[in-house]
Amino acid sequence: MLNFELYNPTKLVFGKGQINKLSELVPKGAKILLAYGGGSIFKNGIHQQVIDNLKGFEIVEFSGIEPNPHFETLMKAVEVIKAEKIDFILAVGGGSVIDGVKFISGAVNFDGNPIDILQKHLLIKENAVPFGTVLTLPATGSEMNSGSVVTIAATQEKLAFGGSALFPQFSICDPTVIQSLPKRQLQNGVVDAFTHVMEQYLTYPHEGYLQDRIAEGILQTLIEVGPKVVDNPADYALASNFMWSCTMALNGLIQKGVPNDWATHMIGHELTALYGIDHARTLAIIGPNLYRVLFETKKEKLAQYGKRIFNLSGTVDEIANEAINKTVEFFHTMGMDTKLSQYTDDYSKTADFIVNRFDERGWKAMGERQNITLEKLKAIVEMSY
Ligand code: NZQ
Ligand code: ZN
Repeated sequence: MLNFELYNPTKLVFGKGQINKLSELVPKGAKILLAYGGGSIFKNGIHQQVIDNLKGFEIVEFSGIEPNPHFETLMKAVEVIKAEKIDFILAVGGGSVIDGVKFISGAVNFDGNPIDILQKHLLIKENAVPFGTVLTLPATGSEMNSGSVVTIAATQEKLAFGGSALFPQFSICDPTVIQSLPKRQLQNGVVDAFTHVMEQYLTYPHEGYLQDRIAEGILQTLIEVGPKVVDNPADYALASNFMWSCTMALNGLIQKGVPNDWATHMIGHELTALYGIDHARTLAIIGPNLYRVLFETKKEKLAQYGKRIFNLSGTVDEIANEAINKTVEFFHTMGMDTKLSQYTDDYSKTADFIVNRFDERGWKAMGERQNITLEKLKAIVEMSY
């Protein structure tokens, strides 16, 4: 097993009705920026619940953090925080609102132009404005990690950053919030979390036996509850297992001591930046083709996955191939279209565009073995048309 350090200071407050604890979790006397998205929290009553549980606190609201949050929007919140002398931020929303708040938190006291946080992938290790979250969409794991992805609308760049100062102080995860989610967002959540596990699992055989078993447990749980929760989001057993699986998929635990990949996400972010395709759907387009192009170096782990998750038998090559087919089948069951051409007609130059961008950024050796060259990148994207 590889050496590792595990640090995760987020207090996770999980379960039905836990929003009642909000006033105990927010620092006493704090002036709060209540940050949210396009208004779903008004329709499902979560805004009212938050207000009811923050009686006595001074609150300034900031609305309009869009899906795939924009740098340009978030900088407006940075100005509000400075003008209003805010000392705590509460993010109420899905991954986009939480990621947006991570950027705001890091940008307020940043010495320099905050766009550098994104373009130079800086690590924010201090001076962040403290924040907590009320999660409304299980998917990203952002409620219990220190990563974030923000889009610069002006340049159509979707860039990841993070740092140890960007963990939420607390996250309230009440599985009943998923009842108001559209089917599409429930499907997205399952596939995003599934792919997070795959990025940390589908590499090569290693000595992280426990990490593998935990990862496989999350995959199996998502396969079991994913299709059902889309039709029955009010079923608490399904909702709670779905939500906890999403958090566990990306709270740092399964990635410690083992190789990681993350190339599916890096390529997928480009498809969102270029075409506005939902994050999870970009992963369903790219992931299986990345496994195909990297077949020779991933096949042993693919075969382990095929045996343990889908009970497949045969030779390593046979199981590994069939495991990719089963993954695509699962994505189809989860309502995903898995080809770029199902989302846009404008794809003939996509591979060249992404290859040029990664070349300029110096991303020429991605993946757990640094063997995803620009040539392989081109093959993966072209196979995804
Ligand atoms: O904006 P509102 O009106 O709130 O509506 C949202 C939004 O339109 C709606 N929604 C959220 N909760 C709802 C609800 N509608 C009804 N009922 C509820 N309870 O859902 C829509 C999508 O929300 P969004 O936050 O964009 O979705 P998600 O949680 O999937 O987040 C996606 C973003 O997270 C990033 C992605 O790149 C993308 O930008 N990621 C962040 C990661 C991280 N920080 O660790 C890792 C991921 O890999 C991912 O990259
Ligand atoms: Zn993701």
